Amino acid sequence: MFQMSNPIERQPTERTIYLETFGCQMNELDSELVQGQLVSLGYTFCRSRTDADVVLFNTCSVREQAENKVLSRIGELSVEKSEGRTVVIGMLGCLPEREGNRLLRKYPQIDFICGPSELDRLPTLLQNTLVTEKLSTAERAALQGNRSRRSAALSAADDNLELLDLSRVFDPDFRQSSGRSAYVRITRGCNKFCTYCVVPNTRGAEVHRPPDSIIEECKKLVESGAVEITLLGQTVNHYCYTHGVALGENGQEVPQIGPGLTAFKKPTDTDQTVTTFANLLQRIHDEIPNLLRLRFVTSYPIDFGDDILEVMRDCPRICNYLHVPAQSGSNRILKKMNRGYTVEEYLEFIDRARKIIPDVEIAGDIIIGFCSESEEDYEATRELITKVRFKNNFVFHYSPRPGTVAINRFEDDVPREVKKRRLNALLDLGAKISAQVHQSYEGREVDVFVEKVSPQSVKQRGIELKWEEKKIQLSGRTSGDLICVFDVNSEAKAKKLLGTIVQIEITGSAPLLLKGVLTTTILSK
Ligand code: 5AD
Ligand code: SF4
Repeated sequence: MFQMSNPIERQPTERTIYLETFGCQMNELDSELVQGQLVSLGYTFCRSRTDADVVLFNTCSVREQAENKVLSRIGELSVEKSEGRTVVIGMLGCLPEREGNRLLRKYPQIDFICGPSELDRLPTLLQNTLVTEKLSTAERAALQGNRSRRSAALSAADDNLELLDLSRVFDPDFRQSSGRSAYVRITRGCNKFCTYCVVPNTRGAEVHRPPDSIIEECKKLVESGAVEITLLGQTVNHYCYTHGVALGENGQEVPQIGPGLTAFKKPTDTDQTVTTFANLLQRIHDEIPNLLRLRFVTSYPIDFGDDILEVMRDCPRICNYLHVPAQSGSNRILKKMNRGYTVEEYLEFIDRARKIIPDVEIAGDIIIGFCSESEEDYEATRELITKVRFKNNFVFHYSPRPGTVAINRFEDDVPREVKKRRLNALLDLGAKISAQVHQSYEGREVDVFVEKVSPQSVKQRGIELKWEEKKIQLSGRTSGDLICVFDVNSEAKAKKLLGTIVQIEITGSAPLLLKGVLTTTILSK
C-alpha cells in the first residue's frame, strides 16, 4: 500500500519528490541539475514513488519503448489518484516537448509538463501547481516550441537554461559512481536533422557554452571529489565557440548558437579567436591536473579533425574511447537517413582514429529495419560491423517518431519479424566481435576506474550484500570503456578502492566483460 500524505497542509517546499529518469546521459544530467536546484529550495527527494508528494518523470522520446514505459507509469499513478491518493505528477523532458499541450488533454492526471530547454522554469511551475487549485493549460506547461530555431542571433543569451548549468550543486551524493564520475554539458541541441530522429525538435538548435563556464564547472566538480568527467553533446565534436561576439549584459561570454557557416573556417579578425573542441579538451586537461579521466560522447563521424585525435593521443588523462554511431552500413540507407556521410567516409574516419590512437576503442549505434532496408542493405551493415570491430554496438530497431521527416515521408515497411530477425542476428555478430576485442586484452595490464560492487556480486549474495563474506567483486571501466571486474577480500578494501583508479592484470574475458586480478592498488585518490 502506498503511504497517504496530505500536501495541502504542508508548505510547498516541505514536499517529498520522487524523480525517475529515462533515456540518455543528457537526461541523467538534467535530472541531477533539477534535483540540485529543488533541494536548494528546500524540497526533499525520496527513493520510493509511493512515499512521494510529487512524482516527476524525466522522459525520453527517441524510441517508442521508452515512451511506453513512462506512459504505463502514468497509468498506474492514475489508478492510485482515482483511489484517493493525493500526488502531483510532472512530466519533464523530450516527450512533453514533442507532444505539447495535447499530452495534458490526453492524460488529465498529469499536473504539469516541462520541456528539456525550460527546466529552469520547473521550480515556479511546481510551486504554482502546489499552491493553486486550478491552473489553466497554459499555466501548466513550460515548452520551448520552435523558439530557438527562429532566432537568427548568434547570442543565445536569452537561453535561461544556462542558469541551470551554472547553478549546479556540487554535491557528490547527486552523482553516480560514489560521486567520482560526473557529466558536464558542452553543447545543447542538434543541427543535424537525421530523418528518423526527434532530438532536433525536442532539444532545439545547437547551443555552445562558453569554454570558461565549462572549465569552471569541471574544476568545481574535481574539487568536490570527481575523478572522471564525461563531456556531453549530441554531436560533441561540433563544439566551437567564437569569442567576442556573444556577450551578456556585463560583458561576460554567454552561450552561442552555432556552429554557423563560419564555424569551421579560420577566424578572419585577429581579435576574434575560436575555441574548437580540440582546444577545449586540451584546456580542460591542462588546467585541471587533478582530473584523472576525461571522456566525451557522442561523436559525429564527420567534421572530426585530426586535431581532436592528436589531443586525445597526447593528453594521457583523456580516455581512448569514441562513441561514434554509424547507424547503417548501406550508403543508400545513410542517404535516406540524411546522415551526410558515406560508409567509405565513416571507415576513413575509423582508420584515421586508429592510426593516430592505436589503443582507441570504438562503440557505435545501429538502427536496423529503417524504411525500405533490404537484405542487401542489411548485409552491408554486417560487413561494416565486421570491418570496424566495435567494442560494442547498441542496436535498435527503427521506431517511427512523430514530428520526424521519416514518419511523414517514408513508409515503415520492414515487417516486424524481419526487424527482429536482423536485430538478433546483428547482436550475435556484434557479440562475437566484442568477445574477440575483449579477449585481445588477456595477459595485459589495464588501468581501471572502480565504479561499484558488481551487480553479479550483489545477485549472488542476495539484495543484502554481506560485506563480511570473503570475496567481493568490484566493477569498473578501462580507459577504452571496457567493463572490468575483479575480486577483493574485504569490505574495507572494497570501500577504499571505490572511486579510485587501479591496475588490473586481465586473466579472462567474455563478450562484454574483462576479468582480472588487482596488481597495483590506488593509482589515484
Ligand atoms: N528509431 C530507432 N532508433 C533511434 N535512434 C534515434 N532515433 C531512433 C528511432 N527513431 C537511435 C540512434 C541514436 C540513438 C541514441 O538512438 O541509433 O544514435
Ligand atoms: Fe539525432 Fe542525428 Fe542529431 Fe544524433 S546527430 S541527435 S541522431 S539528429
